[in-house]
Amino acid sequence: MWSDIKSNLSSAQVYVIELLIINLFIILLIIIIVGSLALEEWLIILLIFSSLILLYFLGRKRKREFEEIKLAINNIRQNVYKEPEDIKLGKNLSIIENDVKQMFEKVKEDIESMKRLQRARSEFLGNVSHELRTPIFAIQGYLETLLGGAINDDKVNKYFLEKANQHTVSLNNLLNDLIDISMIESGEMRMSFRYFKINDYMKNFVNETAHFANEKNLELIYHPVDERLQLFGDKDRLRQVMSNLVQNALKYTEKGKIEVFVEEEEKSGKITVKDTGIGIPREDLSRIFERFYRVDKARSRAEGGTGLGLAIVKHIVEAHGSKVEVKSKVGEGTEFSFRLKK
Ligand SMILES: Nc1ncnc2c1ncn2[C@@H]1O[C@H](COP(=O)(O)OP(=O)(O)OP(=O)(O)O)[C@@H](O)[C@H]1O
Ligand SMILES: [Mg+2]
Repeated sequence: MWSDIKSNLSSAQVYVIELLIINLFIILLIIIIVGSLALEEWLIILLIFSSLILLYFLGRKRKREFEEIKLAINNIRQNVYKEPEDIKLGKNLSIIENDVKQMFEKVKEDIESMKRLQRARSEFLGNVSHELRTPIFAIQGYLETLLGGAINDDKVNKYFLEKANQHTVSLNNLLNDLIDISMIESGEMRMSFRYFKINDYMKNFVNETAHFANEKNLELIYHPVDERLQLFGDKDRLRQVMSNLVQNALKYTEKGKIEVFVEEEEKSGKITVKDTGIGIPREDLSRIFERFYRVDKARSRAEGGTGLGLAIVKHIVEAHGSKVEVKSKVGEGTEFSFRLKK
């Protein structure tokens, strides 16, 4: 009881100014009513007593308000609230109710995004280990077979070595892609932007890549643009973008052609890679830029793909202030395009 009174009184300390004002007011009132200070002693006692009572009630009110806030904070901490609307503070606290609700929403968002990141991280690690295991197992298998005696069998020994070598190549590609992804995502990838003549650049690129198309009996056609057109970008990184897009087109096209277009627009140049391949189902279109996402895992892996190519393409194109657009029809073909500033 006594400690309760004490704590309520101490909570009311902040209202001292209000108290002084009220006291002054009461003194003034008494002077007016009584007209003299004859009852001075009694009145002072009365004044102090009434002030203490007032102080007590004010303190109790303040303590209740604190408790209400404390309860709300504890409830947020213990995930009691599902929605911001569940938070209800008393009338006197309505001014901070909105702030508490906003804080709750922010905390909820932060926790969600932390959980998402954690999930993405473990999923990424899982994917990486899975992708590493495939070539390592294969290499191990070939080497063990060779050591087990196949090395002396002239009919198969070279074949097994070639196979093992192929897998070391894909292991190396995977590692390079992973390094790129981690550099991009940690913001360490240095870009060096310059103006360059896009026509010469594309002509060279297509010439160097044409033999891959010929090996598959596909045509790789370049549709030139005004040779004076200069676009702004990082040539080395764009090479990565073009290689990925053209390699995909080659991988997922059985017959027909792959076309590369550069078209001049008012403020930019539009670069397009178009194929007559298997196409991408509509429901997969929004996901193909995710790391490790492949429409047909078995086919992609057989082609030596890990599903990192388009994730890298997306990052690089976005670093150029642009975005990759894709149009596709199953059985007819696919078209990827992006723009570079003029
Ligand atoms: N031109 C295309 N035609 C049909 N499907 C495509 C085409 N380009 C990409 N895809 C689909 O999108 C998926 C993701 O492409 P991405 O380039 O990221 O991976 P990948 O080619 O399988 O492997 P990586 O590029 O890492 O070697 C592919 O697995 C494929 O299913
Ligand atoms: Mg690819």
